[in-house]
Amino acid sequence: MKAYISEIAGFVSRDVEIRGWLYNKRSSGKLYFLLVRDGTGTIQVIADKASVGDEMFARCEELTQESSLIAKGTVREERRAPGGYEMVLSELQIVHLSSDYPLTPKEHGVSFLLDRRHLWLRSSRQHAVLSVRSCVEKACRDFLDSRGFMLIDAPILTPAACEGTTTLFQTDYFGSLAYLSQSGQLYMEAAAMAFGKVYCLGPTFRAERSKTRRHLIEFWMLEPEVAFATLDDVTTLGEELVAFVVRSVLEQRRDALETLGRSLEALEQIEIPFPRVTYGDAVDVLKSKGLDIKWGDDFGAVEEAELSKSYDRPVFVRYFPSECKAFYMKSSPDDPRTTLSVDLLAPEGYGEIIGGGQREDSLEVLEEKVKKAGLPREAFEWYLDLRRYGSVEHSGFGLGLERTVAWICGIEHVREAIPFPRMLHRLGP
Ligand code: 4AD
Ligand code: MG
Repeated sequence: MKAYISEIAGFVSRDVEIRGWLYNKRSSGKLYFLLVRDGTGTIQVIADKASVGDEMFARCEELTQESSLIAKGTVREERRAPGGYEMVLSELQIVHLSSDYPLTPKEHGVSFLLDRRHLWLRSSRQHAVLSVRSCVEKACRDFLDSRGFMLIDAPILTPAACEGTTTLFQTDYFGSLAYLSQSGQLYMEAAAMAFGKVYCLGPTFRAERSKTRRHLIEFWMLEPEVAFATLDDVTTLGEELVAFVVRSVLEQRRDALETLGRSLEALEQIEIPFPRVTYGDAVDVLKSKGLDIKWGDDFGAVEEAELSKSYDRPVFVRYFPSECKAFYMKSSPDDPRTTLSVDLLAPEGYGEIIGGGQREDSLEVLEEKVKKAGLPREAFEWYLDLRRYGSVEHSGFGLGLERTVAWICGIEHVREAIPFPRMLHRLGP
């Protein structure tokens, strides 16, 4: 019977066939221990020369790292084996013999690995990270779906900038200019006026000349948008979402977190409510810690890391000055120098994982903001329509998937949190 390694516990004492690749092997003269992976897990396969015979034993010897194979045998429990089970080999077919697999179990440099990302994906560490990513995406969708949100896919090719004009990727669109989407937000605002509670989940693009451990050129964002919702409403939505996502990973991907050596304790204490501070108070805190910052400056990685140090869970910073934020942010009624904006900073120095806020809903004020930002009015006429026909207060945010995954996994850099990273000076494989 064919089986996946992830289901092997249900096959104890039975004969099964597994199909996969050789991850590693070792021998002790009369025995071969083959570590086989099939994408769902790894299992130790034991070949005993006395029972498999010389010819099959020679085939074990011939097997090289990452050769593909089909193995049949009996499953048994074995506490000392990785995963707690092993297979006693009875038949072995080599499907394809791999030669000189470039990623050996020794340490490789990051750029060597990134050049071979298509192969690097096969490692247990990358498997763990990407299985957490898959869990995070599903948890995000489950959370919003269960609350009655509708999934609305945003376009990738757009005629207008959402997040400032300095990071636009432009392309020719049959003689006119088009840009790769920096955010689905403007379209979600239109969708919120049509469907109430909506979200998109897809790739976004920023031509950012930042070479940091948290910037990608192509990254994925989850963007919920809600009609008749205030800044407070989406702050609460954001914390409930993040707490749900962390809990889901703890429940469903504990193995992966263990493979990564992630402190489970750090994740287990992520409980709502998350602390909320104002931008103004945050600046005072940073000043008191000796950082060179003044009111009006945006936060960078250093400021965010310093702020999050005081908390064991994510922290919301709200009411940023308008010069730090995009044109669509609604000004605070209490202090027009600030906006109804919110960032969520992850603990342990991972920085901003959510950015959002309440949107400007007055036609006149928004027209002024478009103008002040130097944006072409024609490209935003459709967006202004949303303020002409039944405008209501509405709010939303974007959660960066890779930063969230990097934080949950406890990995150094966002480049491992996406299957094929696009970074400054790297477009490939
Ligand atoms: O704060 P940002 O720029 O907000 C927006 O794009 C809003 N339009 C979203 C909305 O309100 N619907 O980006 C949102 C999040 C950030 O908090 C961060 O997690 C992630 O997207 N992000 C990046 N992740 C990786 N690489 C980059 N270059 C990123 N830029 C933003
Ligand atoms: Mg932001």
